[in-house]
Amino acid sequence: MCGIVGYIGQREAAPILMDGLDKLSYRGYDSAGIAVIDGTNKINVRKAKGKLENLVNLLETSPITGCVGIGHTRWATHGEPSDINAHPHTDVKGGIAVVHNGIIENHESLRNFLTAEGAVFISQTDTEVIAHLLNHLYKGNMKQALLRAISMLEGSYALGVVCDEEPGVLYCARNDSPLVIGEKDGECFAASDIPALLSHTRDVIFLKDKEIARLDKSGISVYDAYGTPCQHPLFHVDWDISSAEKGGYAHYMLKEIHEQPEALQKTYAPRRSQNPGDYAWLPISPEDARNLRKISIVACGTAYHAGIVGKYAIERLARLPVEAEIASEYRYRDPIIGENELFIAVSQSGETADTLAALREAKRRGARVMAVCNVVGSTIAREVGDANTLYTYAGPEIAVASTKAYMTQAEVMLLLAIALGDMRGTLPRERVDALLEELVTLPKKAEEVLKTEEHLQRFASTASQKKHVFFVGRGLDYALSMEAALKLKEVSYIFSEAYAAGELKHGPIALLQPGRLVVATITQPSLLDKTLSNLREVTARGARVVAICRESLQDKVRDSVEEIIAIPDADDLFAPLLAVIPLQLFAYCMAVARGCDVDKPRNLAKSVTVE
Ligand code: G6P
Repeated sequence: MCGIVGYIGQREAAPILMDGLDKLSYRGYDSAGIAVIDGTNKINVRKAKGKLENLVNLLETSPITGCVGIGHTRWATHGEPSDINAHPHTDVKGGIAVVHNGIIENHESLRNFLTAEGAVFISQTDTEVIAHLLNHLYKGNMKQALLRAISMLEGSYALGVVCDEEPGVLYCARNDSPLVIGEKDGECFAASDIPALLSHTRDVIFLKDKEIARLDKSGISVYDAYGTPCQHPLFHVDWDISSAEKGGYAHYMLKEIHEQPEALQKTYAPRRSQNPGDYAWLPISPEDARNLRKISIVACGTAYHAGIVGKYAIERLARLPVEAEIASEYRYRDPIIGENELFIAVSQSGETADTLAALREAKRRGARVMAVCNVVGSTIAREVGDANTLYTYAGPEIAVASTKAYMTQAEVMLLLAIALGDMRGTLPRERVDALLEELVTLPKKAEEVLKTEEHLQRFASTASQKKHVFFVGRGLDYALSMEAALKLKEVSYIFSEAYAAGELKHGPIALLQPGRLVVATITQPSLLDKTLSNLREVTARGARVVAICRESLQDKVRDSVEEIIAIPDADDLFAPLLAVIPLQLFAYCMAVARGCDVDKPRNLAKSVTVE
């Protein structure tokens, strides 16, 4: 979703801003623009619809110079993608320029008010009201104008602001939309996400809600909503820029699929203990675990699918009712949550607007809250607190379609299920030990599964023109199928649907006809016979069935399917984690075979920071 960058220093701003926008482009966008203050204190703006290359070309024919500026990649919310709707937006005189992530909910009333005051709007965006509002409030001090403006804005925003009357200053503000700032050697930087800053500085400050920041050559000053100075500790980013680069792979998605064995290992390592029953990593005491009555796991997209894995696993091992729910539904359905219940938000980015709102709703209702999160210092992690955040150590995930984050989220869910089962006494010690032992071998097995890539490439070359694909499975395999269907539709634009195999007869079977493709996941021996009879119903209608199947089950499956992609044997609980790899590779290979923009699928954003 939209990206923001800002710069003030001694160097030319435009190339630095463009480099930052390039680093943020993975988030998804439909237009881009920059504004730079030149030597005569004039703000020059360049914007272009479409890919960043269009803006690069525009800057070649029409360059802008100066050492202070802001930049933006836009993902349309109010108004179609166009040159005019692209940010930065300015006031009528062009003396104030603004970039904005988020949504201003009261933009209509502000627009009416400002129009009556003489403002002339040229775009359809909610952002433009901020530029006119700042102009209206500006009485020679942008800090004061910005503080007054944020007291009038309702909704979410991360803002970058420059003003021709204060040409050496960059202002920022945030509410419910991430913004990081950093300084080094007389230069200051701002961005909506860390990768845009990493080549300049590793020590950053996360602005908090309703705070503003003033960045100039002497450094950074942060103020709360009343204008009182605040001090923030510097956060040191310890991951490398190279881990956010492609490293020889054709796409980030492929690189991240291949990073899964390492991600699995890194996520388990800090939780591995030599002492049985030691769950120091889990902020739940054995007594609390025994008293728990229900868990709600709430998330969006892929993270929600990891939540469903959690539901199956925790209910099975810890005998505790678990609801897995989509955050956008949870937040508005007047959820019942109370004493002895636990709410877990799952989010790769830690910034997803609906997940954050659902978390706040659960907190407001007095629930105990935790998070499973990949980005240290993200809003969700900070609101829950580090002690209550189970971090996944997948490393930076750049491809819009999530792969390694899902893998580690599902791993944490399984670990949680084992720990709760142990603490609640619903899982015998020998089984706990065996499971934890096996978890150590999972990365090696995941390496093995990556070898299915060639097979899937061949398969995709024969199947890439399919218009529909069904994914079926039972139990944990159904949870997996949901993720597989999402992955395929995200990156290849093929209509794909997941069904519990037992549900096929209740409707979807009407769509089966010769040539239809059905991908079955078969990792659960106890459900094998049931699944096979469902698959026979599918093949009887002429559909083509390919199975992702555990090695040890292959012989029983062979006669019921056209093709098998085998994965190494593993415990029933872990085999689905291995099976997801060929499903991810399948989506990837199909997308490549169809010539899709794998890392930046149309209309999608990596981090959805608006509702
Ligand atoms: C977007 C992304 C998905 C992601 C979802 C939730 O839709 O495109 O890949 O699963 O948001 O994101 P989160 O950061 O909360 O896990």
